[in-house]
Amino acid sequence: MPRLSEEWHMSRRLGALIAIVALASGTLLVSVILRCQIGAAVAIEDVPNGLWLGVLFWVALTILGSSLAVRMPGGNYVDVGFAPVVAAMSLGGPIVAGLTALIGATQTRELRRQVPWYGVLANHAGITGPAVLSACALSLVPRSNPSNVWVDFLATFGAACLFFSLNTLTTTMFVSVRNGESMWRLVRADSGAYLNMLALAPVAWLMARMYVAAGWWAVLLFAVPLYTTRLAYQRFVEVREMFTETVRSLAEAVDKRDTFTSGHSHRVQTIAMDIGRVMKVSDEELEALEWGGLLHDIGKIGVPDSVLLKQERLTREERVTMNAHPVLGAEIIAPVRKLAPELPIIRHHHEWFNGSGYPDRLVADEIPLLARILHVADAFEAMTAARPYRMTPLTSAQALAELRKFGGIQFDPDVVDAFVKTEWVRDVPDAGRPEIRDVPTIGQAAGSMAKSATHPDLGPAAPDSAAFAPVRPPATA
Ligand SMILES: [Fe+2]
Repeated sequence: MPRLSEEWHMSRRLGALIAIVALASGTLLVSVILRCQIGAAVAIEDVPNGLWLGVLFWVALTILGSSLAVRMPGGNYVDVGFAPVVAAMSLGGPIVAGLTALIGATQTRELRRQVPWYGVLANHAGITGPAVLSACALSLVPRSNPSNVWVDFLATFGAACLFFSLNTLTTTMFVSVRNGESMWRLVRADSGAYLNMLALAPVAWLMARMYVAAGWWAVLLFAVPLYTTRLAYQRFVEVREMFTETVRSLAEAVDKRDTFTSGHSHRVQTIAMDIGRVMKVSDEELEALEWGGLLHDIGKIGVPDSVLLKQERLTREERVTMNAHPVLGAEIIAPVRKLAPELPIIRHHHEWFNGSGYPDRLVADEIPLLARILHVADAFEAMTAARPYRMTPLTSAQALAELRKFGGIQFDPDVVDAFVKTEWVRDVPDAGRPEIRDVPTIGQAAGSMAKSATHPDLGPAAPDSAAFAPVRPPATA
């Protein structure tokens, strides 16, 4: 079952949402307790108080499953407690489903007081309500004929899907309101585990059948597949984390070659993602900015120290070597299929809006949007950090003034406008206004490019760039 992480930041909206879900779940549980009966199939036969012992058995099994929770990349926790709740739902109806979910969802994190009370309330309400509702839906299906196994199976599977969907929807709503993230992005982040979770539905049905046919002890045999499923979640998370950490280490290894650029890629990644959010790029594009931000300068791995660390002006040959890093970076990343969306960002993050950048001298909209975003983030970070050629970094206001000055020349003015709305320049009293400039033709840009001899990572380079400012007409659209 998906649960929420312990990182809670209570807001009025979140409080209202938790209150609504808790009230609805509580009302549902109380009304089924008052109006329904416990399904006899949940009783352990031939023992005194077999009915309540049966309920206790499923609650204990769910607690055990819940205690083996795994933290997913989206930040939520999932566990295998889903299967016993569905089995209890199938055997005992809405009351048993509700009680099993309510009590069985207790996690060790809660007992250790690592989750605030409203977090505990949200977790339990987000599981109990969906469990009761799904059990009510299941009770509408006539399953009394023991020979009709398929009806029983399909009905239980359907109820499990409903339970899982409602539980996921509720949990995702909480996280979305809490973090301001898109619900779709959160669902996608944990999608691999959700598919695994649905595979537990047939296991849950089998557990219920075995409980009736062979007795409570037979259910314990399912501990092995359930534990294997839990291991699969863990493996999924570990592999993804390993990938993330490897990419981070790779980016940091490149930055660390120069003591002045340590942490550069990580900061560029954060700035680029903030601009992306303001520009409302899609979740896929935001993820591309996340990886692309980290890896944009990976091609510098192939630039010799004598060029990369040189503090004097680069010779023509050295500049050619340095300017090859976007192409080299794209070539390095190309074999990694998972990083295909990042390739245009890496290749084109030094293209200029007026066509005088490199490697392909693209103009305006020809440059992929994400590369234009990254270019602004890269320049702002470079200008506001110390460099050997400029030990005193520019202030945010000075750097923003440069971005404004070269909007339409080096930078996409729309991206600069979006950047102005991020936290990075919130303290700048006058964010300036976008200047309307026309884009030169590629031929004009190429002519001036020959004269250009600025360092690629210095940020805006005024003398040559200024030549493009007044040129007409626009060459692209
Ligand atoms: Fe670069």
